[in-house]
Amino acid sequence: SIRNLIKAGAATVLCAFSLTAFSAPIEIKFSHVVAENTPKGQMAIHFKELVEKRFPGRVSVQVFPNAQLFGDNKVLEALLLGDVQLAAPSVSKFQKFTDQLQVFDLPFLFEDMEAVDRFQQSPAGQKILGSLEKKGLVGLGYLHNGMKQLSANSPIREPRDAEGKKFRIMTSDVLAAQFETVDAIPVKKPFSEVFTLLQTKAIDGQENSWSNIYSKKFFEVQPYITETNHGVLDYLVVTSAEFWRGLPDDLRPEIKKALDESIAYGNKVADLKDQEDKEAIITSGQTKVLPLTAGQREQWVESMRPVWKQFEKQIGRDLIAAAVASNQ
Ligand code: LMR
Repeated sequence: SIRNLIKAGAATVLCAFSLTAFSAPIEIKFSHVVAENTPKGQMAIHFKELVEKRFPGRVSVQVFPNAQLFGDNKVLEALLLGDVQLAAPSVSKFQKFTDQLQVFDLPFLFEDMEAVDRFQQSPAGQKILGSLEKKGLVGLGYLHNGMKQLSANSPIREPRDAEGKKFRIMTSDVLAAQFETVDAIPVKKPFSEVFTLLQTKAIDGQENSWSNIYSKKFFEVQPYITETNHGVLDYLVVTSAEFWRGLPDDLRPEIKKALDESIAYGNKVADLKDQEDKEAIITSGQTKVLPLTAGQREQWVESMRPVWKQFEKQIGRDLIAAAVASNQ
């Protein structure tokens, strides 16, 4: 009868509807600010590939590089609003959320990336991740980029060469203090604006890893790069507590596992790019890379060391001590 037909039809529609409701994939938007041929860019792509291969049709990942979707200072708010689900801002961009991550910005604290890694994996380093939870964020793991170098439009060898010069920094008061100790002028600006600021000489220089200087072509508009290794540029992979808790229980550990694997992959890329991109910059002949003599380096360390004391209360004396201990 007509009635049965309508019933059957309705049931089919209902069934189809609930099926799509169940099978609609979980969407993960991963927003970041750097180029794809960087440690973070590669890590994000690797994560997408792993997850979509393991959970075809169940999870879909969209990666937005180059600040296409959100700039560095907006993405954490976007996470909390649910506009994106994953991000990996540099640890210097979390100042509004926790004081503890600022330990990474202290100048001349870590001797090399191995020390950074030891500290991050230590109980003290892992505890920092918990400090974000009160703010609705979940730290899922650290990701490396590399040590920072100082680029400028004039040769900078000694601290006094930086006097009166404007350097772009990330939104970190520790980084601001670092430049103020040498009477330079720190300017907080988003990463996406750095190239133009350098090109138009609105600023004199900036600090970044070899891979960022290379992939964003800063070396083409900065005639000098001083190999200072004065600080670290590393990332924290984060999500929102709301998204993380809302994931199906069987999926959450699998996503975490894919992230861990992608971070390990990204760290390998970081290692490689740190060498390769530095070489590529040198062979380009478009900029001069200035190594520091031991004496010059000592001058920088001495000038900038007071920043530790300045931020000791805020960051925590124990945390700084734990970071220092990771050098051995
Ligand atoms: C910067 O703003 O200089 C970096 O944090 C960019 C990045 O994410 O590597």
